[in-house]
This record gives sequence, structure tokens and C-alpha cells, in this order.
Amino acid sequence: MIYSRIAGTGGYLPDRVITNTDLEAVFDTSDEWIRLRTGVQERHRAGPDESASDLALIAGQRAIAAAGIDPDDIDLIVVATSTSDALFPSCACHLQAKLGITGCGALDVTAACSGFIYALAVADSFIRSDAAGNVLVVGTDVLSRFLNPADRATGVIFGDGAGALVLSRNKEPGVLSTHLHADGKDGDTLGVVSSIRDGRVHGFPYLTMDGNAVFKQAVKRMEEVSREALAHNSLKVGDIDWLIPHQANKRIIFSVCDRLDFDPAKAVITLDKHGNTTAASIPLALDQAIRDGRIRRGNMLLMCAFGSGFTWSSAVLRY
Ligand code: COA
Repeated sequence: MIYSRIAGTGGYLPDRVITNTDLEAVFDTSDEWIRLRTGVQERHRAGPDESASDLALIAGQRAIAAAGIDPDDIDLIVVATSTSDALFPSCACHLQAKLGITGCGALDVTAACSGFIYALAVADSFIRSDAAGNVLVVGTDVLSRFLNPADRATGVIFGDGAGALVLSRNKEPGVLSTHLHADGKDGDTLGVVSSIRDGRVHGFPYLTMDGNAVFKQAVKRMEEVSREALAHNSLKVGDIDWLIPHQANKRIIFSVCDRLDFDPAKAVITLDKHGNTTAASIPLALDQAIRDGRIRRGNMLLMCAFGSGFTWSSAVLRY
């Protein structure tokens, strides 16, 4: 049997840090409100010349180094992003050029905050079908470019960042399952719904979000898709060593843990340091917990995410 397994991970956060206190000068908000209602303490912002593929490059290079391979050993690049450098070519092609490699396939996956698990599912399928041996999977977003300067609700929760992993062919099982779902009829509830036509931007050019509706759906769907993943693998909640949820809001993560009867101390939470980084949030949390020694080889991991679309997804992996 051919399996795919994580060979190495990497992450990158831009240098510029925006604290809650910094945001008190911008919005009618407070450090206390942001901490209590979201859990975010600070977020990072890309510089004016820093694109999604620039962030992806550093995270990707770190993952490649951790995997102990050369960039030339990559057979496929899959980038999850909603804020690519350009409409096209893809962010994955920009990243490939910056990595200094040519020839391998390169494609983007757009599923907003669920994007990384969607990209992982694509990578896993390529490896299992023997079409690739090493796949670089990256989640990268610079959503700060699309934040409405007048909207405090979105202005405090989102940050920029990139996370990556190298998924490699292995005789031992790594990725055990992925489950992907979408319901496109709720598209306007969360997104940047404008378009470029005839040389002009049509529609509102900033992120819009119905926070309460998104909150409720996120909790419901992340619980649902986590249960689906556990049942598919005949696992119990107690079999999971670490939950790596999408890092949107601490209260969403605690509610999901509560509904699953999962010990929240075993949920990796990094959003206090980077806010919601869209497709980068799960690989950033994964990389952090691997590097600080919480996640060890052999651990059973459950990932779950929810995002614009709506999309929701889960993955079960043995690290
Ligand atoms: N600072 C201070 N007050 C704020 C605020 C901020 N940054 N943002 C919203 N408020 C206010 C609202 O205006 C409202 O005021 P009102 O009662 O006078 O009308 C009050 O706080 C409560 O608003 P509500 O929207 O019910 O707050 P909330 O507790 O639901 O928190 C979010 C708002 C956005 C943090 C929360 O809904 C959320 O996290 N939603 C999910 C967002 C998400 O995860 N998006 C990405 C999904 S992938």
C-alpha cells in the first residue's frame, strides 16, 4: 500500500506585529473586548511589497529543510490561498519560480479557511495514486489587504501568515482520511464578493462577514465533520492526541471541544499570537506544536476547519 505522511513542516509570520493596544487607536474597541470575545492578542501584517507567495516561500523552505529534501525533489506544489499575488498565474506558480524549480505541477486551491485541508486532500490523493512522491502543501494568506478600515469586527480578528508541510510517500499510514464539504448558497455571508471586469472593480472591494451567523455555522460544522472523521476511522475522541482546529476564535474552538467532549488542553491554540490567518492557520498551529515538542511522531491528529463558501473539512493523520 502507498500512504502519504508528513515529512516536515514550516511556518512564517511577517515581521510587523499589530497588538490589541495598537488597534484601540484605530477602532472603537479595547484589548479586553478582543481578548475575551476572540482570544486574539496580536496579529502580523505583511509589508506593502510582501505577497502571499513571498510568505509561502519562507514557510515552504522551512518545511523542505525539515523534511530533509531538496526543492528539486518536489513533484507537485499545492497552495491554499484566497489572496493570491494575482488573479492568474497561480500563487503556486509564483512560489515555484521563487523556489527556483521548474517542471513540477503547481496549482492553487481556493476554499478560504478550509483551504489547507482541501489542499492536503489533493496532495494525499496524488501520492496514494502514485502520481507524486513529495508534495509541498502550503496555506498562505494576506487577508489584511481586503480588510474594511471601518469594520472593527473583522479588523481585530484577521492576520497574515503562511504555513507549509511536505507530504511524502511512505509505507506507514500518515493521512488516514480527509472529508471535504461545501454549501455554496451561503457565499455572501463571508467573503470578498467583488470582481474585476472591463478594467474596473465591481462590488464592495473589502471583506464582509456576518459574524454571528459564521460563528454558529463554524461550531456546528466543525463538530459534525470531526465526528464524521472519527466514525470513518472507527476512532473515539479519546484516541486523538491533538486537535488542530482552524484558528478563528477561541470561543469557537472551546465550543467545538465542548460538543465533542474533547479535553481543550489537547487542542492546539496559536491564534492569540497571529489571529485568523485563513488558509495558513492550521499549518501554522501544526508547525508550532511540532517545533515546541507537543506533537511527537506517532501521535494521532485531528484537523477540522470551516470557512467562506461555506466550506468545512477534516483530516485524521498519524504524525
Ligand atoms: N470591539 C468592540 N466591540 C465590538 C467589536 C470590536 N472589535 N466587534 C463587534 N463589537 C460589538 C458589536 O458591534 C456589538 O455591539 P452592540 O451590542 O452595541 O450592537 C457587540 O460587540 C456584540 O456583537 P456580536 O457580533 O454579537 O459579537 P460577538 O461576540 O459575536 O463577536 C465576532 C464578534 C466577529 C468576534 C464573532 O462573531 C466571531 O468571531 N464570529 C466568527 C468570525 C469568524 O470566525 N470568521 C472567520 C471564519 S473562518
